[in-house]
Amino acid sequence: MKVFIIGIAGGVGRRVAALLAEAGDEPTGLVRRPEQAEALGAKGIRTAPGDLVAMSVDQLAEAMRGCDAVVFSAGAGGKENDEATTRIDGDGPGKLAAAAKIAGVHRFILVSVFPEAWRERRMDASFEHYMVEKKKAETELVLTGLDWLILRPSALTNDSGTGRVDLGLAKVHVEITRDDVAAVIVGLLRTPGLNRLILEVTGGAVEIGEAIGALASSSTQAGRR
Ligand SMILES: NC(=O)c1ccc[n+]([C@@H]2O[C@H](COP(=O)([O-])OP(=O)(O)OC[C@H]3O[C@@H](n4cnc5c(N)ncnc54)[C@H](OP(=O)(O)O)[C@@H]3O)[C@@H](O)[C@H]2O)c1
Repeated sequence: MKVFIIGIAGGVGRRVAALLAEAGDEPTGLVRRPEQAEALGAKGIRTAPGDLVAMSVDQLAEAMRGCDAVVFSAGAGGKENDEATTRIDGDGPGKLAAAAKIAGVHRFILVSVFPEAWRERRMDASFEHYMVEKKKAETELVLTGLDWLILRPSALTNDSGTGRVDLGLAKVHVEITRDDVAAVIVGLLRTPGLNRLILEVTGGAVEIGEAIGALASSSTQAGRR
């Protein structure tokens, strides 16, 4: 399976790429800095220099041509300003989906966020802006006609993965490791029957393959009704 990952050098993206490469699949994506290409290349992961914001839709389509799926795991990450958040987190997924349509890549997984994330904290205006932009991106993606899947992870940690999660249509926001989110994304990529769903995932007790299998069978049963 050939997978185009936007955010391939990021916390979740590079873990997805590593899992795919280890399994003999072909992850690829765009990086903004040469040292990122080197680090990923050392793991056998091919990348191309590129920037989601600077590139045109046609250029993005060319970059992903021949892939079987797209994963959007990029984000301004609070490191930049609100305008960057709008262009990357807000406008980025729609732009990438338009490119996917041109390139004929139908499967599209968007890493989003729980709408109630950190609502109990008094977050600043930039965080609220980020939340609005993430939701905007979801609403655009569901209208595309692609085989989209939106995955909302809870707060991400860099702890070692547990291989276990709580995954479903609606979950309580807690936290989850980036390792486990990456493993869920790879599992979802390998389950093409799961489509046009918004899923929430947080740390939990169910083995990842089992959690995805349960969702796939309930979605098949719902399709038969
Ligand atoms: N942090 C959380 O607790 C949390 C919770 C829920 C959901 N999320 C979402 O989960 C996703 C993954 O999070 P993460 O922690 O893995 O993010 P991350 O480590 O900040 O990685 C984001 C990646 O996106 C890349 N990127 C940003 N702008 C780009 C552009 N214009 N063109 C190409 N690439 C670009 C960055 O590239 P550079 O390396 O060049 O900067 C970076 O590699 C994000 O969408 C985030 O919003 C995060």
